[in-house]
Amino acid sequence: LAMFDFLIVGAGLSGCTLAERLANELQARVLVVEKRSHVGGNAYDAYDDNGVLVHKYGAHLFHTNDWEVYGYLSQFTEWRFYMHRVLTWVDGQLLPFPISLETLNQLYGLSLTTEEMEAFLARRRESREINNSEDMIISQVGRELYEKFFANYTLKQWGMPASELEPEVCARVPVRFNRDLHYFADRYQGMPKQGYTRMIERMLAHPNIKVLLNTDFEEIRHLIPYKSLIYTGPIDEYFHHKHGPLPYRSLRFEFETLDQEFFQPVCVVNYPNHFDYTRILEMKHATGQQCRATTIVREYPQAQGEPFYPVPARRNSELYRKYAAEAEGLTDVYFVGRLGQYRYLNMDQAVRAALDLFQRIRAQGR
Ligand code: FDA
Repeated sequence: LAMFDFLIVGAGLSGCTLAERLANELQARVLVVEKRSHVGGNAYDAYDDNGVLVHKYGAHLFHTNDWEVYGYLSQFTEWRFYMHRVLTWVDGQLLPFPISLETLNQLYGLSLTTEEMEAFLARRRESREINNSEDMIISQVGRELYEKFFANYTLKQWGMPASELEPEVCARVPVRFNRDLHYFADRYQGMPKQGYTRMIERMLAHPNIKVLLNTDFEEIRHLIPYKSLIYTGPIDEYFHHKHGPLPYRSLRFEFETLDQEFFQPVCVVNYPNHFDYTRILEMKHATGQQCRATTIVREYPQAQGEPFYPVPARRNSELYRKYAAEAEGLTDVYFVGRLGQYRYLNMDQAVRAALDLFQRIRAQGR
């Protein structure tokens, strides 16, 4: 068996960015090992039996302010212009989310101006020490809005109350004092014109890159010779959970195809206070696909299953640090990506981390 310069575990955006850079820039021989039957990681999309392009692991909307990441990915895809919108079902109404001037006006039947909205929230905000996500939200919008929009959603999503989650989890949700109904404020937003899978396949299209699907790293760990390892799977799994397992939150997706053009007015509708699912996705709004049927997806959070989200509680960060310290003691083994770094990373941040690691590897002259 020929010696590979790099063995990359995981064919998600992190692993594929590194494979592409190493093969194209350093002419390295790379083997990507992926336990699923396809490349793309969680960004994977495919046509379902009814011909609708669906995201198999939850809605993936690309957005970034990182010009270099956007430019890098643009070598492998053209973009469809799309600005994401989310509505949330609260008190019998579909309201724009995140909370904006429009949300408050619709919810309370008011016609506040920006200044009046600031005064409205200032009366409700509670100043307090910020130790967790509940403190974070109540200090921004007060208890009533916290309870209507966040408390139950967070409980469903994470299986624990916001008071047990790190402040950063909910700090990501902004409040808007204007009528902007878009979910993200980033400079570059869009969807790969032919989908994420096609974009990622183009990244891997180099004769030096071999891809081995349906294979867990553990199966070939001692069989395939390589010089360096890049690991984008769960870091605790690499070390056989020697310090105990890192908790992840998972999701169950329930797909349903309907014989109608659209089911709901926007791509994502949140249901914070009703049902066991947190939201319904309808990707046609984002992909722009024109076809007669539509496929919707209900997302049910759960503890067991594929590791989707690192659980951002303090005790888990401490456990992660033990694994990170072990990782630092290894030579020629690099941990990167959402599971390798045990950090929620958006796609652009995952690509950024992979590009940065590539620069480090190049500087080391590997
Ligand atoms: P990713 O998880 O994609 O890939 C890791 C790969 O490694 C997987 O394919 C896995 O099968 C494989 N693997 C693991 N262990 C292995 C082993 N032992 N052997 C072989 N293979 C192994 N981001 C964004 O910017 N906009 C968005 O809208 C969303 N939406 C979103 C929704 C949901 C539900 C999730 C879970 C995530 C998002 N994201 C997102 C985040 C996005 O999915 C994330 O940034 C990228 O998937 C990160 O890519 P990675 O390659 O790091 O991990």
